[in-house]
Amino acid sequence: MRILITGAKGQLGHELRRVLHRETLELAELPEFDLLKPDVSERICAAQPEAVIHAAGYTDVDGAEREAELAMAINAGGTEQVARAAAKAGARLLYLSTDYVFDGHKGSPYREMDEPNPINAYGRSKREGERLALTWCPNTLVIRTAWLYGAHGKNFVKTIVRLARDQPELRVVADQHGCPTHAGDLAAALGRVLATDLRGVVHATGSGSCTWYEFACAIVSFTGLSVKVVPITTAEAKREAPRPLYTVLANRVLAEAGITLPHWEEALGRFMGEFGARAFSEVS
Ligand SMILES: NC(=O)c1ccc[n+]([C@@H]2O[C@H](COP(=O)([O-])OP(=O)(O)OC[C@H]3O[C@@H](n4cnc5c(N)ncnc54)[C@H](OP(=O)(O)O)[C@@H]3O)[C@@H](O)[C@H]2O)c1
Repeated sequence: MRILITGAKGQLGHELRRVLHRETLELAELPEFDLLKPDVSERICAAQPEAVIHAAGYTDVDGAEREAELAMAINAGGTEQVARAAAKAGARLLYLSTDYVFDGHKGSPYREMDEPNPINAYGRSKREGERLALTWCPNTLVIRTAWLYGAHGKNFVKTIVRLARDQPELRVVADQHGCPTHAGDLAAALGRVLATDLRGVVHATGSGSCTWYEFACAIVSFTGLSVKVVPITTAEAKREAPRPLYTVLANRVLAEAGITLPHWEEALGRFMGEFGARAFSEVS
């Protein structure tokens, strides 16, 4: 299959390239491919893709509060361009979205049909991207994922490993619940999704759920370091963007299609085993 991947140099993009290496891949990356430029459609149509995996985006949740217009231009405006081009090329579109489209008030796992109500600028821009993708490309699948980590790029796991080495004590938020997701496992699931005709919205996260505090404790335990992990509240963390407190996603539609992602603890253990030594020496 001829697949165009946007954000091919990003955290998920790296894993997609690895997992889909047998397919014909067109890699759309900055600076040649810029979602803010008007030639996005031209570039996508010229590649004649059968599928477009749109993983590029403005992904700094706190930065989006300061640069809300830029986040909206990239995540919504850029996605509209990608969706129109995918439709024009007759391609299927897989658009990566986020658990942060929800407000976190539900208290039980969010299902695909639950109404989004984002509470921060990043979530609003991704929600608008979802709406535009579904509007402009009839063959669209929105894939909501969460708490991604992998070998490439910055993420929570690498940050905790670095801080655990450098600091005697870590203060980590214990009142936000979500689903850690190994980027390699998500890429493998997307590979299987390509063999289905799913359209609409699916949730795709690691199985199980935890708080950031529990996630940090598990990471630290795999490092063998003796740093103390102290639970704090979201209010104490004083982040720029408001965070939804509960964004556990039920992956029901994917499960019905026979696709599940491993449990987050199993995935973390595998990640720390495979990449631990390298991650410990290169953490960014
Ligand atoms: N990371 C998470 O925890 C998480 C959670 C839920 C959903 N998601 C979604 O999953 C997708 C993949 O996430 P990720 O962690 O792989 O993100 P990432 O590592 O930040 O990768 C995003 C990619 O988009 C590129 N990009 C940024 N602005 C662009 C523009 N104007 N034009 C073209 N490309 C641009 C970035 O390039 P540069 O690096 O050169 O700027 C980067 O390669 C994103 O859509 C994100 O919203 C992520």
